[in-house]
Amino acid sequence: MAGGMHRAGMMSLRRDRSVLGHKVKKGTTKRMLSFSTPYRRALTVFMVAVIAESLIGAVNPLLLRGIIDRAIPEKNTRLVVVLALAAAGLALADGAVSLTNRFISSKIGEGLIFDMRSKVFSHIQQMPIAFFTRTQTGALVSRLNNDIIGAQQAFTDLLSNMVGNVIAVGVTLGLMFWLSWQITLAGLILLPCFLIPARTVGAKLGTLMREGFSLNAEMNNQMQERFNVAGALLVKLFGNTHTEASAFDARAGRVRDIGIKTAMYSRTFFIALGLSASLATAFAYGFGGLGVIHGTLQLGTVVALTAYLGQLFGPLTQLSNLNLDIMTALVSFERVFEILDLEPMIQEAPDAVDLPDGPLSVRFDHVAFTYPSAAEVSLASLESVAVLEASAPVQVLHGIDLEVKPGTLLALVGPSGAGKTTISQLIPRLYDATSGTVSIGGVDVRKATRTSMTAAIGVVSQDAHLFHDTLRANLVYVRPEATETDLRSALEQAQILPLIDALPDGLDTLVGERGYRLSGGEKQRIALARLLLKAPRIVVLDEATAHLDSESEAAVQRALATTLHGRTSIVIAHRLSTVRDADEIAVIDAGRVVERGTHDQLLAAGGLYADLYRTQFAGQEG
Ligand SMILES: Nc1ncnc2c1ncn2[C@@H]1O[C@H](COP(=O)(O)OP(=O)(O)OP(=O)(O)O)[C@@H](O)[C@H]1O
Ligand SMILES: [Mg+2]
Repeated sequence: MAGGMHRAGMMSLRRDRSVLGHKVKKGTTKRMLSFSTPYRRALTVFMVAVIAESLIGAVNPLLLRGIIDRAIPEKNTRLVVVLALAAAGLALADGAVSLTNRFISSKIGEGLIFDMRSKVFSHIQQMPIAFFTRTQTGALVSRLNNDIIGAQQAFTDLLSNMVGNVIAVGVTLGLMFWLSWQITLAGLILLPCFLIPARTVGAKLGTLMREGFSLNAEMNNQMQERFNVAGALLVKLFGNTHTEASAFDARAGRVRDIGIKTAMYSRTFFIALGLSASLATAFAYGFGGLGVIHGTLQLGTVVALTAYLGQLFGPLTQLSNLNLDIMTALVSFERVFEILDLEPMIQEAPDAVDLPDGPLSVRFDHVAFTYPSAAEVSLASLESVAVLEASAPVQVLHGIDLEVKPGTLLALVGPSGAGKTTISQLIPRLYDATSGTVSIGGVDVRKATRTSMTAAIGVVSQDAHLFHDTLRANLVYVRPEATETDLRSALEQAQILPLIDALPDGLDTLVGERGYRLSGGEKQRIALARLLLKAPRIVVLDEATAHLDSESEAAVQRALATTLHGRTSIVIAHRLSTVRDADEIAVIDAGRVVERGTHDQLLAAGGLYADLYRTQFAGQEG
């Protein structure tokens, strides 16, 4: 038990003292406690166990004293045996209580972690896509891991520290004063000699460990960035492996140095703790020994006092940091609450209605759009660039009016950066229009239910993402109940079935990270198969710009024709064949619709489309 106390004592000494200056938001304490309400019963048992553990620790020296001062002088064999057995029994009970204690505290602790994690995870999933484009994934993940675990640790430490140590210190000190107030007082004078250096070492250790954590995080970041396929490719093609290696070595070297320092400081801490306990013991034996010779003290009392002195230092150290424990718990919880309080910008309206059945139209009425600023969608503490962004966001779309009749195909063309992808993102409500309305089947998308929107709209983006999983898992993700026949027919229509059948593992082939084992054209056809499986009524497609060889170009073309047939489609077109097949073409330039019409009409008009046709599509003729 004493060992555990000492370690815990060091933990709380290591905490970041700067939290003491932090102003915690009002209500945080109440909210923190509300997280513990489901564990009320477990907490009661925990408290009882903690109290029992402290009391057991206090009784043992009294038994020793009884043996030495009463049983031995009286030559009472029975009493010696009884007291020794009692001491043994107490030791066993201590083990059992300590085990129970650990079991309950980990149950509460892990339960708290679980509750907070699942809450935060589902909350973050509600966040709009803008949140994810702004937030550094690493910062978010570490917030989830570190703060939640930190909050839980501080919380359970706080509980056992507050209750267990107050009782342990109170009972021990009381008994010591009762046994000999002089020795007790003298022993207490030694305490600051330990506490002051321990606090200094503890603070230093804390700083070192935090520095170590952040260096470790940087190291991990570098490894993650460089060792995924895309990063490794970039380094191979353009990077300087020597620079990469020396940057890594510099960080790893710092981690090494910090490791050595940490080891030395923590050993110093334990030596100081052991030393002061030994000094106190020597002192108590010396002072007490004189008392025994002069007849003012009994031998057993001296032994008991010495044992108590040894038990006092750990809990006292922890108690001296109680305010730090409380603040650490509050600050960690506050950081978690900060995320939970982040209001998702795009939410389902309370009076939302389902989209109507049957083929759907898509309309844009005077739509203007500005990408939200960092402050609107994210937390400053989660993104390192937020401070740099002082300029106001620029308006990207201006007065867009578009109408796609049910079952027809609208092609969007225009120069890079014109706003085509942005327009397409307003349809599935990845963003909300700043002004004007986007409506589907006559329903404003802000008034439509999320499930009916998800069911109605299928999107294939410029760089279709596949999870690191089997092809089958990637496909059924959009329709869990799909049968083998459904899968094969979708793959067949997407012109990719023969290729998959040729793979040794077929549909159970694992797709590499980001689907890297597939070629661009293959990946796009898998994405189309996924879309066909979902069979949405509206298709939004951002065509890949990558050039495909003529064979896969033809295959993708056939796949597209089947995918888009009979569905309301909005296609950002980079292929002449798609543009030609479109019922209408809208030419987008600098966030405005500058021309509308069919291929022949626009070509005859001799405007921007005619220019684009000559530069972008001309080579594709044939
Ligand atoms: N998440 C974002 N935050 C802020 N601005 C953005 C964001 N995404 C795009 N933009 C800006 O909006 C404008 C339109 O971008 P968009 O992606 O819609 O162009 P695009 O027409 O699809 O171009 P391309 O043909 O190259 O794909 C660009 O100026 C771009 O810099
Ligand atoms: Mg784009």
